[in-house]
Amino acid sequence: MIRRGVLSLGISGRRLMSTEAPRLKTFKIYRWNPDQPEVKPKLQEFKVDLNECGPMVLDALLKIKDEQDASLTFRRSCREGICGSCAMNIGGRNTLACLCKIDQDTSKQAKIYPLPHMFIVKDLVPDLTNFYQQYKSIKPYLQRKDYPADGKEVLQSIEDRKKLDGLYECILCACCSTSCPSYWWNQEEYLGPAVLMQAYRWLVDSRDQATQERKDMLNNSMSLYRCHTIMNCTKTCPKGLNPGESIAKIKQQLAF
Ligand code: SF4
Ligand code: SF4
Ligand code: FES
Repeated sequence: MIRRGVLSLGISGRRLMSTEAPRLKTFKIYRWNPDQPEVKPKLQEFKVDLNECGPMVLDALLKIKDEQDASLTFRRSCREGICGSCAMNIGGRNTLACLCKIDQDTSKQAKIYPLPHMFIVKDLVPDLTNFYQQYKSIKPYLQRKDYPADGKEVLQSIEDRKKLDGLYECILCACCSTSCPSYWWNQEEYLGPAVLMQAYRWLVDSRDQATQERKDMLNNSMSLYRCHTIMNCTKTCPKGLNPGESIAKIKQQLAF
């Protein structure tokens, strides 16, 4: 399974030592091992002393992997919300483990699952092959039919550049797509909010000259129109982006 970022190597970001009485928090974590396919997936319980742990859920996962079970498998790389590797379902919400604060209430358990409705590679690692193939299918790069005569770069006005704000920041973590019921049921054909937002990003780029081809590709009953404006995608985006709005704007563009 290929993915930006790496599997956790068990190198803890921080190792805190405390003399205070332990504040033990229970983490229940989804486990499944492809090397033992006959063993059903289960939730495994780990206890972590919050006095000796960093503030984020990713800190707790790293601590568990370092000190309790080196076989616990998850992705992470940047630990600052940039790479998109550590997307998972924490307390019922798709988010990034490195941006998600641990609830300091030790009477409450923290439940952690992989991104929902995905095939699982191992433990918290989903198979994102289809997601990346869908991203590739929208040709996420500048397409030009001609180039400036002076051979220099294709320029863009400040106003046109502003149209890309709120779109280019997407880190392709897949939190939104895997929270979308339409994507759960039609994953093979419906592109899902993350990929559609990137399709829109190229539709509104003033430098791109493949607008009609891009529209034609989306103008069928499955790729785009499976979105029923439920807006789970926008609610869950850990970067505060609005893929639901982008989808609505593509529909508008196709209508006129
Ligand atoms: S729109 Fe947000 S949730 Fe969706 S892939 Fe991009 S960053 Fe992740
Ligand atoms: S708005 Fe569309 S893409 Fe977003 S969750 Fe709803 S159906 Fe899915
Ligand atoms: S580790 Fe990179 S986004 Fe969380």
